Amino acid sequence: MFATSRLLRLATLVAFATIRAARAATEDLSIYTDNNLAQGWENWSWSSDINFAATDLFSGASGSSLSVNSTQYAALSVKLEGTFPDYAGLRFDIAGAQPDLTIVVQSTADNSQSPNIALSSISKTVVDGQFSSLLIDFNDLPGSGAQLGTGTWDRLTFQAGGNGAFYHIDNIVLVSEIVVTPQFLSAEPLSNDVVAVTTVGAVNLTDVQVSLNGKNVKVTDRATYNPVDTPAKTINYLKLASPFTTGNLSISAGNATFSYTLPTVQYASIVPQVNHTIDPHVYGVNFPTSASYIQHLGVTISRWGGNAVTAYNPFGGFTNAGNDWYFENRVIDNGQADDWMGWVHGAGSDSLLTIPALDWVSKDSTSYSYPKSVYPDQQSFDPYNGDAGNGLFPNGSYVTPVPAQTSAYTPWNSTLAKTWLSNLANKPLMVAIDNEIEITSNTHQDMHPDPMGYDEELARVIEFGTAAKEVLPDVLVVAPSTCSWWYYWTSSIGYTDNAAHDNIDFLPWFLAKMKAHDQSTGKRLLDYLDIHYYFQADTSANDAAAKALRLRATRSLWDTSYVDESWVGSNPQNHQWNPTAISLVPRFKTLIDINYPGTKFSISEWSSTADTDITGGLVTVDVLGIWGKYGVDSSTYWATPDEMGPVGLAYWLYRGYGTFFGSSSAQVNMATPNPDTQGLYAATENGKLSFVIVNKNPDTPIAFDLANVPTGQYFVRHFGGEAGVAKWQTTITLKATNYIVVPAYTAAFFLQK
Ligand SMILES: *[C@@H]1O[C@H](CO)[C@@H](O)[C@H](O)[C@H]1NC(C)=O
Ligand SMILES: *[C@@H]1O[C@H](CO)[C@@H](O)[C@H](O)[C@H]1NC(C)=O
Ligand SMILES: *[C@@H]1O[C@H](CO)[C@@H](O)[C@H](O)[C@H]1NC(C)=O
Ligand SMILES: *[C@@H]1O[C@H](CO)[C@@H](O)[C@H](O)[C@H]1NC(C)=O
Ligand SMILES: *[C@@H]1O[C@H](CO)[C@@H](O)[C@H](O)[C@H]1NC(C)=O
Ligand SMILES: *[C@@H]1O[C@H](CO)[C@@H](O)[C@H](O)[C@H]1NC(C)=O
Ligand SMILES: *[C@@H]1O[C@H](CO)[C@@H](O)[C@H](O)[C@H]1NC(C)=O
Ligand SMILES: *[C@@H]1O[C@H](CO)[C@@H](O)[C@H](O)[C@H]1NC(C)=O
Repeated sequence: MFATSRLLRLATLVAFATIRAARAATEDLSIYTDNNLAQGWENWSWSSDINFAATDLFSGASGSSLSVNSTQYAALSVKLEGTFPDYAGLRFDIAGAQPDLTIVVQSTADNSQSPNIALSSISKTVVDGQFSSLLIDFNDLPGSGAQLGTGTWDRLTFQAGGNGAFYHIDNIVLVSEIVVTPQFLSAEPLSNDVVAVTTVGAVNLTDVQVSLNGKNVKVTDRATYNPVDTPAKTINYLKLASPFTTGNLSISAGNATFSYTLPTVQYASIVPQVNHTIDPHVYGVNFPTSASYIQHLGVTISRWGGNAVTAYNPFGGFTNAGNDWYFENRVIDNGQADDWMGWVHGAGSDSLLTIPALDWVSKDSTSYSYPKSVYPDQQSFDPYNGDAGNGLFPNGSYVTPVPAQTSAYTPWNSTLAKTWLSNLANKPLMVAIDNEIEITSNTHQDMHPDPMGYDEELARVIEFGTAAKEVLPDVLVVAPSTCSWWYYWTSSIGYTDNAAHDNIDFLPWFLAKMKAHDQSTGKRLLDYLDIHYYFQADTSANDAAAKALRLRATRSLWDTSYVDESWVGSNPQNHQWNPTAISLVPRFKTLIDINYPGTKFSISEWSSTADTDITGGLVTVDVLGIWGKYGVDSSTYWATPDEMGPVGLAYWLYRGYGTFFGSSSAQVNMATPNPDTQGLYAATENGKLSFVIVNKNPDTPIAFDLANVPTGQYFVRHFGGEAGVAKWQTTITLKATNYIVVPAYTAAFFLQK
């Protein structure tokens, strides 16, 4: 069904070059103009104070607008009696101080919905007191560039973020056609002699002129690529008669001119003879959304994890996310774990299943631990269930008395875990012994109010790990999934707990104890030492300085000379060597060698810190390269990256649609490493070379002279650059490897054909 609609849309694009009226609707459909919703539209909003006839501010001739004051995560939502499958886009006028809104198109018939569209991805200049007229092109959704696709669409929702949203909105209309002005969006140098030109609409490519150091360079060949899932933009690869070299490159296209200073070349060599195997499990994510997601991104391992699985009751299918959501029981979000593993395996991914390892799991789908009727004095209550509180007094301390666990939970133990695991139709490759239980007295304060110490955590890992291996003898045990740098070295009890354990930091102690345990039983229980890693530097400002910091902070994963640009760099809080340089992978490999050799190393949660920003995608490219280069054994991104977003594209770059980065990591030697601003990763498989270059500079291309890289045909993928976040691929011929260019903020993948 999808494939057909895509074909239709492409055909239409060719037929009506400048007007993209791919959809069948012939007239616009009004949703709101004045005083009330248009006929046929119903108010399905929630937890929002809405005035449908606000006269304090309105747009154009209309005498009123809709004013909306939504509490956290509440929404203005409207539903049509009928469906609107055939429109080209959505137009609306909005005023407000850049309200934090996410817009989605939904189908109430089958619960499907569009990708999330952040208002900020349409415009970052929405202001109070004055309307901005905005358009969502259903063929080019803001943020992802994806298509809405056909569906039984009947609902539109403008949902506020965690701090609510206040705004006026007017003249909301589904438009039947969108006129696309032909435009050259970007023209960038790529590889040795290719200019990549991104366009929308019917541009004329014949008079694109390229000049290098003042001399015209002829275009000898042209190839065009239209990504099926982001067809609104096109990329044209223009092959030049002579290769790039240091100097001034200028490309004029239509009435636009794109100019670059091509830099001095940097020397690097790739040495496949110095190699090790890259464990395919480094390319994992938490909770992939579908089988096609797994295949499109090449996901190798899928984790069932996070705060909500601690309370997972597999017999009833209930869970409770603890302090992530008002300690409320609910039906498990992803279907039962057994069924989930069934489709995940069917799509070609292995699985990492988390086993609850506290003494309780959710007893039903409705109970909660802190009812207002029992604890009236709480800091906040669920906006969707005013009786469920967050378990904190208004001053932020835990409410007392501690509720009885039985109010929301039913007992759980390793016998029940064995019953569950032994009856699974689909068996996990790996099991994690719960999730971040070192902080359970915070995340699950109602279930386990006492701080978890070294001894209890070790005992739980041994008890539940042993139970798992008794019923699933081949399963690999992954533990203890510690949340962060702080808790790698101590417990929730604090440094008195270190002191009570010979002043040995937690994870080294844990490894040594597991080694002693496994020696006493004569067989290995702990297969992977598992941690969660979140960059500690604060990049939330997301300005130029924060983006540069985010991009260089990947050095914390490997570089023993990189003092962390966070609190860790000044106050490391541990007894480890060189404690201000995280050097994560080398450090943990050394700790494993010292304390329990042979244990594998996994990172079952990590994040780029900016899933919707291009820099988050470039960080992910760098990190996936680092995992392979430095020999991590398994990793799963937290949480589920959007398939079409920057992080999803990083997975696509290495693994998309069955075209993979090599499995044998090749040594890379760089004359000028500059890890703050660039990365180069290489591998081989079946005698074919693949390499990835990530350029983390926001505005300057980089160029390499790559020794030991054969000339010939290469399959090339890239994303980022001046075209914005988009996926592009083609096949090129490398005639020379002494000047290979990668444009600014771009990641490029080359695979020898
Ligand atoms: C629309 O729904 C919201 C949220 O439930 C409610 O507050 C508002 O009064 C409704 N407006 C109308 C006109 O029905
Ligand atoms: C929005 O509603 C909240 C209460 O839910 C109120 O405190 C706030 O003042 C309102 N904001 C505006 C701009 O009316
Ligand atoms: C494109 O531009 C060239 C050169 O200016 C011109 O000869 C040609 O007719 C144009 N093609 C179209 C389809 O407009
Ligand atoms: C590139 O342009 C700059 C500024 O116009 C000029 O100074 C420089 O000489 C040019 N470089 C080359 C190699 O032509
Ligand atoms: C450039 O061309 C586009 C498309 O033809 C046109 O809309 C725009 O006005 C032109 N810009 C200038 C500066 O001439
Ligand atoms: C990997 O290293 C081994 C040992 O040096 C060597 O025999 C093998 O040929 C190398 N593999 C590749 C692809 O070069
Ligand atoms: C916080 O408020 C509670 C309830 O009013 C009180 O018992 C407690 O002492 C307060 N804690 C602090 C640190 O002020
Ligand atoms: C788990 O609980 C069940 C039911 O109370 C009990 O029969 C079993 O012995 C318990 N198992 C363990 C390991 O405590």
